[in-house]
Amino acid sequence: MERIKVALEDRSYDIIICSDCIKDTGRHLKDIGLKDKICIVTNSKINKLYGRKITESLKKAGFLPLTILIPDGERYKTLKTVSDIYDKLISYKIERNSSLIALGGGVIGDITGFAAATFLRGIPYVQAPTTLLAQVDSSVGGKTGVNHKKGKNLIGAFYQPRLVVIDIATLQSLPKREFLAGMGEIVKYGVIADEGFLNYLEENLSGILSLKKDKLLHIIKRSCEIKARVVEEDEREATGKRAILNFGHTFGHAIETITGYKKYKHGEAVAIGMVMAAKLAFQMNICDVHVYLRIKRLLNRIGLQTEIQKLDSKEVLKIMQLDKKVSEGRIKFVLPKRIGEAITSSDWNIEDFKKVIKNM
Ligand code: NAD
Ligand code: GLY
Repeated sequence: MERIKVALEDRSYDIIICSDCIKDTGRHLKDIGLKDKICIVTNSKINKLYGRKITESLKKAGFLPLTILIPDGERYKTLKTVSDIYDKLISYKIERNSSLIALGGGVIGDITGFAAATFLRGIPYVQAPTTLLAQVDSSVGGKTGVNHKKGKNLIGAFYQPRLVVIDIATLQSLPKREFLAGMGEIVKYGVIADEGFLNYLEENLSGILSLKKDKLLHIIKRSCEIKARVVEEDEREATGKRAILNFGHTFGHAIETITGYKKYKHGEAVAIGMVMAAKLAFQMNICDVHVYLRIKRLLNRIGLQTEIQKLDSKEVLKIMQLDKKVSEGRIKFVLPKRIGEAITSSDWNIEDFKKVIKNM
């Protein structure tokens, strides 16, 4: 079992990474002082796979577990779903000392975190992520929220979980495509923060893709460490430091919007977005062409698409203007300087931007 601390003063918590350990969830929750009723928020697919194990573990530790099922899919990441959760919490007579567990991928995690942040002005919650993307990204750092019809994640709150319990055995049931999408976010950590980690990904790819336990533990642990350190420095994205986690996301979100959130998974769009951002960095002489080529090659070896055709630069810009990453009207991109270091910059010109869009 691995344990990483996210040090945020009175909002500090641990990330536990282990294998086949859902059965220990109750004990971990008891150790951090949670008690009484615990509502597991999940969907029916994940409930069938892991609901019983977690419920039994909670009962064994003396909790009263309750389950709230929500529909599966990004299109249900809405205020309506949050409102349905409130209805259930009220009917279950949930009080301030009760807690929620988000059992599922990033969609469940973001919705549950937001419900926890707002119900009774805040009740404790725990993340139990079951997708690779949620295990290395969305369950850590306290960004919670839902989508608005005008844009993704427009409604939300920073609200840290009390604990993150990552059971890597849950990845065995995850569809391959979802796993690969999560790999996109893992490559991101190597590019923005740790060249040694990118080397590891390149050298151990076949073991990682065949879900070798030691490899998975290592890449999830290192990703969580990198994310935890960035969040510790800039919890609420106030200084700009946390923004480097958005590498690939400005282009990625635009791609998701243009394709109606149907064609690409979030991690898949981010993979294309990372290549676009690296290409922009190269056009702007911020990085060497080899940085762009290395990122693209690794993503291709993973099996992720890195090209996209028929994007209209005007449309892309219009969508980006609505993104939360716009500051004083200027779109801010995260750009790699070299493998292991990224910067944010609003100082780009339209000709370079158009070249990136045109040549994808
Ligand atoms: P997801 O939550 O939609 O899960 C993908 C699919 O896998 C779903 O159908 C889910 O039911 C299924 N699934 C989950 N675990 C499974 C398992 N172990 N076995 C079988 N099936 C399983 O998608 P995601 O990629 O995990 O999350 C994407 C969401 O995360 C987006 O809404 C994105 O905005 C959000 N996100 C948030 C943050 C953050 O910091 N809060 C960061 C990145 C992404
Ligand atoms: N996924 C970006 C962040 O957590 O800040």
